[in-house]
This record gives sequence, C-alpha cells and structure tokens, in this order.
Amino acid sequence: MDEQHSTVFASQAERSEVIFPGDSNSLGNLFGGRLMQFIDLVGAVAAYRHARSTAVVTASMDHLDFVAPVHVGDLLILKASVNRAFKTSMEVGVKAMVEDPKTRQLRHVSTAYVTYVAVDQSGTPVPVEPVVPETEHQKRRYNDAQRRRENRAEETARKRELRKVLTMDWHT
Ligand SMILES: CC(C)(COP(=O)(O)OP(=O)(O)OC[C@H]1O[C@@H](n2cnc3c(N)ncnc32)[C@H](O)[C@@H]1OP(=O)(O)O)[C@@H](O)C(=O)NCCC(=O)NCCS
Repeated sequence: MDEQHSTVFASQAERSEVIFPGDSNSLGNLFGGRLMQFIDLVGAVAAYRHARSTAVVTASMDHLDFVAPVHVGDLLILKASVNRAFKTSMEVGVKAMVEDPKTRQLRHVSTAYVTYVAVDQSGTPVPVEPVVPETEHQKRRYNDAQRRRENRAEETARKRELRKVLTMDWHT
C-alpha cells in the first residue's frame, strides 16, 4: 500500500463558484440540481485522486441535506475528501459553504455523501487502495462511512431485486 498517497489529505479537493442568476430559481436562490452538480464534480475529483484509476463513476448520492439557501452573488466553497475506500468503491464526503468575502467566515449550506466506483476503460470496477485516516475527524468519518455502507447495502440489494420485476411505467 502506498501510505503517503492513500491518506485522506491526499484525496482532498476544493471548488469555488460565484453564483450567477442563470443558476438560480425564481426566489433568487441557487437551484438544488445545480448544487448537486457542483457536489458531484468536486466529489469525483477527490475519488479520482484517491483511486488513480482510468475513471471513477458516481454510483449513488445517498444523503444530501440542503441546510440553508445559497443566493445569487454568493461565493460558494465546496470541499471534498474520501471518507473510506472499500473494494472498488469509495465514500466521499462533500461539504458546501458560503464564504463572506469581507470576514472570510464560512456558513454551512449543504453536506452530501457520494459513492464513486473506480472503473477501467470498459467500465468494469477495479480495486482501490484503502484510505488512511489520520486526524480525529477523519477517523470519525471513516467509522461512520462503514455504518452508512451497511445501511446502503441493504437498500441497494432491495432495489436490485425490484429492478428485476418493475416495469418502466412509473404512473401506476
Ligand atoms: C456503479 C457501477 C460501476 C457498479 O457496477 P456493478 O455491476 O453494480 O458492480 P458491483 O456489483 O461489482 O459493485 C461494485 C461496487 O459498487 C458498489 N455499488 C454498486 N451500486 C451501488 C450503489 N447504488 N450505491 C453505492 N455503491 C454501489 C458496490 O457496493 C461495490 O463496492 P465494493 O467493490 O467497494 O464492495 C455500475 O452500476 C454503473 O456503471 N453505473 C452507472 C454509473 C454512472 O454512469 N454514473 C453517472 C451517473 S449517470
């Protein structure tokens, strides 16, 4: 295992966005779907940094809280890192905050947990290195990620079974 390159620190990614009117809803707040796109993009960078595979694909976004609105003109900061790597998948935690440019104070607006899978050229999952948590926060997130994976596994198995019997007709 490449200890130095497999730390949580080595996977960290950050993205900054100034929110324009084109990203907003009729109330002048950032549209939720656009925030999800930003989250997915920064999360993928963290997963990609850890996996160092051909590509990573988003398998699920299983928890997303919109804690407070983001307004047009706000400076949005997103931070992501790998909480835990499993066999071929990685749980990435993403925190979205608004920065007050005058005071540099941050206001928490959203948190998400996104699972990415490392894949080869043909889209087949490939193994990733375990991640090494070092700080207390990283260790807590690492342990929590295992708990979330267990909850997710049950749901994923049920959804797989349902996909076999359900039709494409949603409105029934
Ligand atoms: C994600 C994907 C590669 C998984 O393929 P699969 O055939 O289910 O592969 P496996 O059953 O071997 O699972 C591979 C890993 O993915 C994880 N996984 C699969 N579905 C998952 C889900 N819904 N949520 C979280 N993890 C999931 C598995 O737990 C496994 O993790 P592990 O190797 O760490 O134990 C496949 O479903 C896929 O390509 N999906 C589309 C991805 C994509 O295009 N995303 C962009 C959005 S459109």
